[in-house]
Amino acid sequence: MKTQNRLLVKTCLDQLNSQTETLSRIFYKELFQLDRQLKTVFSGSVVFLNRKFTNMLSTLKNVKHLEKIEDSISKMGERHIRQYGAEIQHFPLMKKALLNTLSVHLGEAYTPELKEAFDDVFDDVAAIMQRAMAQLAPELQIQPLKMNETDNLLEEVGGEAMVIKVHQRFYDIMFDEPWLETFFLGKSKEALIKKQSQFMIAAFNGPNNYEGDTPAFVHMHMFITNEMIEIRERILKASILAEGLSETTADKWLAVDHSFKAAIVKTSSSECVLKCKGQFPIEVKKPKDYKPAF
Ligand code: HEM
Ligand code: HEM
Repeated sequence: MKTQNRLLVKTCLDQLNSQTETLSRIFYKELFQLDRQLKTVFSGSVVFLNRKFTNMLSTLKNVKHLEKIEDSISKMGERHIRQYGAEIQHFPLMKKALLNTLSVHLGEAYTPELKEAFDDVFDDVAAIMQRAMAQLAPELQIQPLKMNETDNLLEEVGGEAMVIKVHQRFYDIMFDEPWLETFFLGKSKEALIKKQSQFMIAAFNGPNNYEGDTPAFVHMHMFITNEMIEIRERILKASILAEGLSETTADKWLAVDHSFKAAIVKTSSSECVLKCKGQFPIEVKKPKDYKPAF
């Protein structure tokens, strides 16, 4: 029965693939009618909202072997509570909004079997996410770094120009790093320096000119391990110090950078979530004779 329901959901969502924007519009209307407060969780432009909705659908579509990808679904649950402001009690509202959307959009084609299939698949995925969220809830009361609205780390690091200089140095090293360089094959260094700088300037309480995606989304198909994050952080710290900033300022910078880690790091490549058909997870094996430069 489970297998059949998962297949029904997949077939239905494959058929609706070209209509996700319409579905997304109905979905958010339904969701905000159920709870207006959710507007604070789902903020941003229509493009962002569509992407979040598409992410959810693509997960529900790819759970043929849900039991085998439990770890990645748990991690996703953790990201939801840590990073996105989702709460355990939001799930029934999401499900109701999704089922209403399908009913409005599909009309008679929304059979009782299809309703049951979506209900069942959603509940199975949600149960894993919610369990992981419940386990994390107490830990979340500890905030590693609290930035006050009046804190201005941007000023302390030396303004926007310094953020750009540090990132120039940083990406020069990253693009040549014997292990991590593979992630950056074919990427524009200049574009990354600009985006990463805009992102951090906003994170340092400076002006927000960042128009890229959230770190979770950008890296969702990359198998990035804790070890890689540590190497990256060492390179970042060296780049900050090389620009003449103090150790204390470097550590504050790193604490902000570090706070995005949870949304990026994965423990297995099965946690990679693919954004579109035909995309592969990016998995980079450590070179045999690897010696980190930092
Ligand atoms: C079965 C239910 C759900 C599934 C399968 C799901 C799936 C996803 C996926 C795959 C992403 C992409 C980022 C990532 O992998 O971490 C995402 C992002 C997001 N989800 Fe969910 N989700 C579900 C329920 C919820 C609920 C209940 C909420 C809150 C009410 C929520 C809020 C969000 C937000 C705000 C983002 C965007 C994060 C960002 O890019 O800023 N989701 N979801
Ligand atoms: C070892 C760890 C990491 C690796 C290998 C990595 C790799 C990458 C790659 C390959 C891209 C380009 C994506 C594309 O153009 O398709 C990218 C973009 C980006 N990364 Fe990372 N990343 C890592 C950690 C981080 C962390 C911790 C942050 C947050 C502080 C971050 C923030 C960003 C931002 C803001 C972008 C630009 C997003 C955009 O183009 O819209 N990354 N990263």
